[in-house]
Amino acid sequence: MSLLHLRRARTSLVLDARGPGLPRVVHWGGDVGDLDDDGLRQLAAATVPPVVPSSFDAPTVLSLLPEASAGWSGRPALAGHRDRADWSTAFRLDGLDVDDPADDASPARVAVRASDPGAGLSLTVELTLDPTGLLVLRHRLRNDGDTPYELRELTPVLPVPAVATELLDLTGRWCRERSPQRHPWPMGTWVREGRHGRTGHDATLLLVAGTAGFGFGHGEVWAVHTAWSGDHVTLAERRPTGQATLGGGELLAPGEVVLGPGASYASPLLYAAWSDAGLDGLSDALHTHLRARPRHPRSPRPVTLNVWEAVYFDHDLDRLRALADQAAEVGVERFVLDDGWFRGRRADTAGLGDWYVDEDVWPDGLHPLVTHVTKLGLEFGLWVEPEMVNPDSDLFRAHPDWVLAAPGRMPPPWRNQQVLDLAHPEAYAYLLDRLDALLNENPGIGYLKWDHNRDLTEAGHRGRPGVHAQTEAVYRLLDELRRRHPAVEIESCASGGARVDLEILARTDRVWASDCNDALERLAIQRWTGLLLPPELVGSHIGPERSHTTHRVHDLGFRATTALFGHYGIEWDISSISPAERAELAAWVAAHKRLRPLLHGGRVVRVDHPDPAVWAHGVVAHDGSRAVYAVSRLATSVAEVPGPVRLPGLDPARRYAVRPAEGVPAPATVQRSEPGWLASGATLTGAALARVGLQAPALHPEQALLLEVTALD
Ligand code: DGJ
Repeated sequence: MSLLHLRRARTSLVLDARGPGLPRVVHWGGDVGDLDDDGLRQLAAATVPPVVPSSFDAPTVLSLLPEASAGWSGRPALAGHRDRADWSTAFRLDGLDVDDPADDASPARVAVRASDPGAGLSLTVELTLDPTGLLVLRHRLRNDGDTPYELRELTPVLPVPAVATELLDLTGRWCRERSPQRHPWPMGTWVREGRHGRTGHDATLLLVAGTAGFGFGHGEVWAVHTAWSGDHVTLAERRPTGQATLGGGELLAPGEVVLGPGASYASPLLYAAWSDAGLDGLSDALHTHLRARPRHPRSPRPVTLNVWEAVYFDHDLDRLRALADQAAEVGVERFVLDDGWFRGRRADTAGLGDWYVDEDVWPDGLHPLVTHVTKLGLEFGLWVEPEMVNPDSDLFRAHPDWVLAAPGRMPPPWRNQQVLDLAHPEAYAYLLDRLDALLNENPGIGYLKWDHNRDLTEAGHRGRPGVHAQTEAVYRLLDELRRRHPAVEIESCASGGARVDLEILARTDRVWASDCNDALERLAIQRWTGLLLPPELVGSHIGPERSHTTHRVHDLGFRATTALFGHYGIEWDISSISPAERAELAAWVAAHKRLRPLLHGGRVVRVDHPDPAVWAHGVVAHDGSRAVYAVSRLATSVAEVPGPVRLPGLDPARRYAVRPAEGVPAPATVQRSEPGWLASGATLTGAALARVGLQAPALHPEQALLLEVTALD
């Protein structure tokens, strides 16, 4: 047993694993340099707190799983019992498996093995420090006893130093996902719970603790993400002992997980990131990590037309064919047929569960449309909502017992639907069979939009709490479908962005960030979704001129510039637009395609502008050769001309040409004359652009300027 120091990408993790108990996290944060054994011993000793009056007689230090037996009186990281015994543990360290290659491009891995023979439990803590500096950890608990052990909670936590005094997390609702909330970090526990049976519109993608006033480009920050698509908790705890932690895990209902003899439970993965370059530094580590995954989508993300807001349930072959023609004309590459194609689905009141093409609406099946679309050179995508069932469906009439419910009553309906119990083997087999058959019968389908339009409420499986098993079954179903149809991409949608987390993204290719296509709302939704996800994973569509969800009206330029920084698409009845609008739309699609390699591969930066009505963000190529930025005016300001906008992230020493994006119309402004540099562009160093910035034109509210930046040397 020893002191361990893992280092990657300017991040250090120091563990005191000298035993006899669980390892203590001596440090998680900025790199502490090359320390020899003595240096590590000194660091460990220097960070042990003193013993103060009215406290335990020995210092209390935080282990990887804080336990009452080691003096932890905060929120328990492990809770459970064996018929009311074995409710508290004192794990002893059994061994460590360390794999820490000298090569910084490989991850460092540690598995900590511990057991409490008295309680009949053993624990493995799996830790990976990724080459990006991202720390990923999970606890695995095994019941070594010969009677059942009921697990109530197993939540990995990590210590955060006292310099982190502010918290930022995200909340939200339908059409307003990822709304930030920020406050000083007080004593006590800040708990973000999601009990929706899905990740939730209000899920905080990250819980961030940081130094006072941290922003996108400055401040020292620590953050965690709980990767789980069922009930979950993410929390921050600060105690008068001086200890502070961030953590996250699954929320288990009473009796939900009972481990039989020899059985194990694994907590969700907890992703933990540190940066001394503000929130952008956190995103950088997360985005780089996600982009390195073997199955990360690497082909150009096809510009999509989704027909939902164009036709809703009004499926008519000729109309849809015409829409596909117009989509092809403006440069669309993927055509997605949304809700309404299957048996009985003429409105949102019936049909869910009957995954057969509706013979009345589609007498020749989907083939005529699929063939038309694919002949145009577009990929065909199809909407499904596999986990749901309408009581008005053949499936429900035949199998009312396949629904997640408490004994003797149905959960309150939501959008007229209930949830199928996927832990029921026959329900699972039916869904797998239907989805598999659809993909086999329509080989033109290259994409599924996988929706999930209600919370799980009183979700009982055979009389017992069922969310945990349901979440695992959904993962299994997705994994199996992907195994059978590896070329089919899947979008995670849940009434917009209610299923956005890194575990669903381990088996899907993008998320639908929100049902709100209003560009003003979308700016915020995308900015904060982008804290976790790189742009290519975030579906963002140009909606109609008047937003269907907010009734706001926006110019095409504002809608198109806002959607540009994601997986681009259109959700608009473009059959009704003028030739001039169509030409402009085609120009925006062309601009996106030209910028797409940069947008979907570069480093995301966001600007801390002093005027809250001015937002700017950009993507900078990793080699510093190019960048694209959008400057948006959200509202009017008292200062009619807000100060210059800094453009961060470029190579300070290189000279750059900055000019408004080519081939697309300029935004509307209030000025009498433009800033002089706009007409011919500006030539400035990366340092000048980051430190001084550029005076943007005085944009009207709800307008955006797109800037392209190219290195001259
Ligand atoms: C909710 C989704 O978020 C929408 O995009 C659309 O697919 C509808 N469901 C269809 O019912």
